[in-house]
Amino acid sequence: MKRTIRDLKNIQGKTILLRCDFNVPLSNQGDILDDNRIVQAIPTISYLLQNGARVIVCSHLGRPKGYDKFLSMFPVSVNLMKYFPNRVRFCNKVTGDEVSSAVSKLRDGDLLVLENLRFDPGEEKNDNAFVAKLASLADIYVDDAFGVAHRKHASNYGVALKLPNAIGFLIEKELSVFEKAFEQPKHPFVAIFGGAKVADKLNLINNVMDKANTIIIGGGMAYTFLQAQGINIGESIVSLDQIDNAKQILKTAQEKGVKILLPVDHVAIVKEKGKAVKTTQLKGDMVGLDIGNKTISLFCNEILKAKQIIWNGPLGMYEDPRFKKGTIKIAKAVAKSGAYSIVGGGDSVSAIKSSGVASKIDHLSTGGGASMKLMEGKVLPAIEVIDTL
Ligand code: 3PG
Repeated sequence: MKRTIRDLKNIQGKTILLRCDFNVPLSNQGDILDDNRIVQAIPTISYLLQNGARVIVCSHLGRPKGYDKFLSMFPVSVNLMKYFPNRVRFCNKVTGDEVSSAVSKLRDGDLLVLENLRFDPGEEKNDNAFVAKLASLADIYVDDAFGVAHRKHASNYGVALKLPNAIGFLIEKELSVFEKAFEQPKHPFVAIFGGAKVADKLNLINNVMDKANTIIIGGGMAYTFLQAQGINIGESIVSLDQIDNAKQILKTAQEKGVKILLPVDHVAIVKEKGKAVKTTQLKGDMVGLDIGNKTISLFCNEILKAKQIIWNGPLGMYEDPRFKKGTIKIAKAVAKSGAYSIVGGGDSVSAIKSSGVASKIDHLSTGGGASMKLMEGKVLPAIEVIDTL
């Protein structure tokens, strides 16, 4: 069992470096569009502050190459002020004298937000010198950045090796949800996978195959499976180098008695005419971009019978209103099913939210890539590095 912040004794007056994943979606004007990742970190921050710690919060935001004023953590610090009035300070540097001076001014129960970690090239390289600078700021390191736990960076890996460490409540919750779902699954267990690339989901499908009764495959990746079955997919997206893997998955599923459901009709663009059409048969220059009505019924029937559901990835080109219906219908069916439900991945979570059914989902994971790695049965490096009890 990993050490959690509950196991840290006497944190009053201690300076804690808290790694969060505040990689939140921003508008073109720099406004935070969804502060869920901040909200999900509140229990950990509150616990540390209430116990008298001096908390330095650090996070990445986006994928900047060097300094980028549009990816500053300042809006995040302003958002945090809503939850912790009069306790939050912001320092527009990641390390250095200004940070050290701001840290020295912290009183017990104060929060200091540092600038975007990725403004320093040392962060993603897990650079020793950068690790040492971060570690020198604090007495204890706490990791609550589940969304980035599949990365091995300075702030979530290197620093953990240098300081007494623990995980926060968010990581603890994410780990326990996925562990329970995979170690004591409720049946029928339906796994739903979408998204464009088959290669990203191969390990995931293979691992889930040992636990799930039904695997529903939609989105761009479905066309590789359809082509593997010799079905005409027109000019839909296909990963030719994955056809053999797709065939193997279909074969293994049959041997293991796992039902795999693929789309039987589509909403497609006819390239030359640039027009969206409904079809059961893709051909010529058609590009399938969403599941059709028959597929929606087929998938929803299975979903409504489930006792446990995991879902990762949209069922169509969700960002285009013409091709979002399938994903939205699946979101509503997952909510209606009453099954124990876990949803991960930006688009699937956003489909759940925009369908107004978020409160009916048991767990909306704050990690896309990280939750996928967990479901593949992989150990996440940033969690592995935390001490066990
Ligand atoms: C995410 O949003 O998936 C995490 O914050 C990780 O971000 P990254 O893929 O840029 O490392």
